[in-house]
Amino acid sequence: MREGSGPAVGATIPAANARAAPQRCAPKLVNRRRLGLRRPGRRKSYGRMTARVGLIGLGNFAQRNIIPGIVRARDVELAAIYDQSPNAVRAVAETLPPGAVCSSATELIQRRDLDLIYVATPSIAHAELVEAIIGAGRHVICEKPFATNYQEAARLASLAKTAGVVNAIDHEMRYSAIYRGIRDRVQEGYLGNVVMSALTFSSDYAVKPKYPATYYWSFGSLRDHTGGLLRQSISHFIDLYLFMFGGIQPHGGYCATMVKAKPELVESISSTGERVLSAGPLRAVDADDAIALAGRLTNGAPASITATWSAPVPTGTRWMIQGDEGMLVYEGNETGGLWGDALRGARIGKTISDLQLPQEIFPDTYPTGPKYMSALVGAEIEDVVRVIGGGSDGMFATFDSECEVWKIIEAWDK
Ligand SMILES: NC(=O)c1ccc[n+]([C@@H]2O[C@H](COP(=O)([O-])OP(=O)(O)OC[C@H]3O[C@@H](n4cnc5c(N)ncnc54)[C@H](O)[C@@H]3O)[C@@H](O)[C@H]2O)c1
Repeated sequence: MREGSGPAVGATIPAANARAAPQRCAPKLVNRRRLGLRRPGRRKSYGRMTARVGLIGLGNFAQRNIIPGIVRARDVELAAIYDQSPNAVRAVAETLPPGAVCSSATELIQRRDLDLIYVATPSIAHAELVEAIIGAGRHVICEKPFATNYQEAARLASLAKTAGVVNAIDHEMRYSAIYRGIRDRVQEGYLGNVVMSALTFSSDYAVKPKYPATYYWSFGSLRDHTGGLLRQSISHFIDLYLFMFGGIQPHGGYCATMVKAKPELVESISSTGERVLSAGPLRAVDADDAIALAGRLTNGAPASITATWSAPVPTGTRWMIQGDEGMLVYEGNETGGLWGDALRGARIGKTISDLQLPQEIFPDTYPTGPKYMSALVGAEIEDVVRVIGGGSDGMFATFDSECEVWKIIEAWDK
């Protein structure tokens, strides 16, 4: 699998897809001079220096991270929006020109002035929207979990390949200096031969009322909303195993629902700014909230993920990676527990110390939580736009790599 390797603009499309031919809908990108791209004889026809993004789904993640990410990304602008909820549209629309608001997803997808469409709805709506976007010959980024199962994801990946559109999944942690740093060390041989990798992750995502109902219930606790720890959260870490180590093959594991029922949320907000829990009857939970998963890396080394998101005292992310010539250890300790500390390590015979990391793509944002996450999303969007403009070696997750993630999820979730 090659990551981030969607075809360049102008790739040949089979006759069956002539309606979606890239010549007609070709992204008219991008500041090619700044990006160092050359396409002799074609540059004039792009006619514009900025990539125009359409966004479908304007909920929590879009408002907190995707839109600020688009604003931060260079040579990218938010040009069209749609959400089925008028409230969500209102919350975003006032910062945009009136022409940006579309009255349906179809209207947005059929617009001819967009270079890229970002789908930020819950997974349940991905298949229909992404299929329509591919059918219109548009390049696409989709939120994770991609669709609702492997089969759906594989069908969309195959459609995207046939249509020749650049396709990406939002696994923004790939753009963090920490994970790029670990990947570089693994590839450079700092560890020698990797002999084991262990990840633990603990958060309060599924039990704290501070999160909106969509998190506390749908994503947190309900399987038919593609909810649960494995799909919603560990999918990011499975992707990181692919990104940093080239793969992980499941070898047994166990997913449990430890909090089997919990209070409903009521609308009001407490004086401390938290949502209030109902004193009424508890509602049943059916998605996993605690897991212990075993696997092996491509060289046969054991690898594990142990995680919970119903921890009263969350401790965040810890990676311990051992090789026969060195070791790496990383602990995420900011509020969400995903980043914040230094990457430490040692080569054989040396003492453990902080290691130099690659430069953050937006150095001013590290490591202040949501702002940092939106910067990672912005970096990812820039990278997708660069590949749409003809660049190579995108670092982003693709529909194909996400099919691999789904395969692993389904193998572990027996
Ligand atoms: N990459 C990450 O780190 C990360 C983090 C959190 C959430 N997410 C993912 O982002 C997605 C959205 O999450 P969220 O927290 O913003 O959810 P949300 O419920 O807050 O927002 C979703 C929005 O999509 C809209 N919507 C639903 N179906 C639609 C449709 N068919 N057409 C148009 N609009 C539709 C809803 O009205 C809502 O405004 C989910 O897939 C979630 O797993 C990703």
